[in-house]
Amino acid sequence: MDIGSKIGLKRGKARVPAFASGQRMNRIFSLDGVSKVFVTEDGREVRALDDVSLAGATGEFLCLLGPTGCGKTTLLRLLAGLEVPSRGEVRVQGLPPDKTFRSIGYVFQQGALFPWRTALGNVLFGLEARKWPKAEARKRARECLSLVKLDGVENAWPHELSGGMQQRVAIARAVALEPSLLLLDEPFGALDEKTRRDLQEELLRLWEESGVTLVFVTHNVEEAVSLGQRVVVLGMNPGRIEEEFRVEIPYPRDPLSPAFVETMIEIRRSINDIVT
Ligand SMILES: Nc1ncnc2c1ncn2[C@@H]1O[C@H](COP(=O)(O)OP(=O)(O)OP(=O)(O)O)[C@@H](O)[C@H]1O
Ligand SMILES: [Mg+2]
Repeated sequence: MDIGSKIGLKRGKARVPAFASGQRMNRIFSLDGVSKVFVTEDGREVRALDDVSLAGATGEFLCLLGPTGCGKTTLLRLLAGLEVPSRGEVRVQGLPPDKTFRSIGYVFQQGALFPWRTALGNVLFGLEARKWPKAEARKRARECLSLVKLDGVENAWPHELSGGMQQRVAIARAVALEPSLLLLDEPFGALDEKTRRDLQEELLRLWEESGVTLVFVTHNVEEAVSLGQRVVVLGMNPGRIEEEFRVEIPYPRDPLSPAFVETMIEIRRSINDIVT
């Protein structure tokens, strides 16, 4: 018996999500035949992404998994409207992302906190930009810091916070604006195992409570299997979608459970098969 079907793992080359048959997907974003070519300063062309088609369902937790340089950040930046595709079409809520940027949140690969603002000041930033009344904005910012367990450090400066705390502030800052689509670029990449696990748990709770759609980039197979309802594996040279896996293990996922281990093996095998 195929190991995948034994553990409820569905795999495929699908270019649209492998949702249960008959179930209509409520799409929040799509990339359709998207390629991105950068021209370097010395005139070289880098094909960061080649003919990528992918769609995300509203409320989905999607993980993008791939080696360094395969175009993960580029894909997120395209979804956020921070880059334009060289070919193909990107849509968020049916429109080009520069028209819907207000409903898109972004947690950058390096926390990217404003060093001249306190933790609270960082979370307030977007609310102020959107002209929230002062008292309401402060209340909202405090709630969001509390959501990521940062009560009591509101007045700390970024350099006074640990890496894990800085990432929590970055998440609170993105969540404060109540995005429909939250893009996270290896947000826990630089953290130790325990902090990473804690933050993964918090992110799962936040996702379950808010119904936000998450696109989470990682190069860590265990992290992708811990979090994603769907794991999309990218290959490189040029960056492309290789395969996708639907992970149907209930949350919270025990990394020592047989289903988890089997899923990791399946995905690792897929990665090993990728010719770069
Ligand atoms: N602005 C740019 N100009 C030129 N090349 C770029 C630019 N941005 C990205 N690239 C190239 O595009 C490719 C994909 O980069 P990208 O940052 O998307 O990869 P990644 O998968 O996020 O990598 P990592 O895991 O290291 O963060 C790389 O070869 C990179 O050098
Ligand atoms: Mg990156």
